[in-house]
Amino acid sequence: MKYMPELFDANARWAEEMRVADPGFFAGLAALQSPAYLWIGCSDSRVPANQITGLKPGEVFVHRNVANVVVHTDLNCLSVMQYAIEVLKVQHIIVCGHYGCGGVRAALEGPSHGLIDNWLRHIEDIRDWHNDFLKALPDDATRWRALCELNVIEQVRNVARTTLVGDAWKRGQALVLHGWIYGLEDGHLRDLQTSLKSGSELDTVIAQAVASSRLRYADH
Ligand code: CO
Repeated sequence: MKYMPELFDANARWAEEMRVADPGFFAGLAALQSPAYLWIGCSDSRVPANQITGLKPGEVFVHRNVANVVVHTDLNCLSVMQYAIEVLKVQHIIVCGHYGCGGVRAALEGPSHGLIDNWLRHIEDIRDWHNDFLKALPDDATRWRALCELNVIEQVRNVARTTLVGDAWKRGQALVLHGWIYGLEDGHLRDLQTSLKSGSELDTVIAQAVASSRLRYADH
């Protein structure tokens, strides 16, 4: 018995379309990948890195976890980053969150989701750092959107503070970090203005990004 034959059929059609469009496509990729981007995004099935950026296989190296969190002891994420920076020599690292993130909402609601509470603690920390601001917002939906943005900005800070990125910048390697957020409701990406190309800009850029995010919500 073959499970999920529709997926294999779809795969066969896709591989054939790709081959027809570019007969050397798969042979080229099998020999080498040289993506310019590392994408750190949420596992959410509605936010697939390649499709929403129009990138083909081979063009973006991807790490996804619940709520696009970068933790300094997460060997999985750090290993992806090391390979991307030191071997693939990506030029950009994009942390991409999304509005409507279930992980962020769970962190706002507080504990009671089982094992994942331990992962979400990292977002609860961010919630607590920005508690006065979040509490002053008019409703839970607005708090949710605001925390989705703040989480991206704080994760860009975490990326910048890894030894991997610090060492790359010390070596003079060109590497720019970015924080983006995706709207499930309209399919659009927004730049949260956290782009960074050196450690010396870190505090200023993050502070400005947090301030503009807060300002957007203060208008509500
Ligand atoms: Co999510």
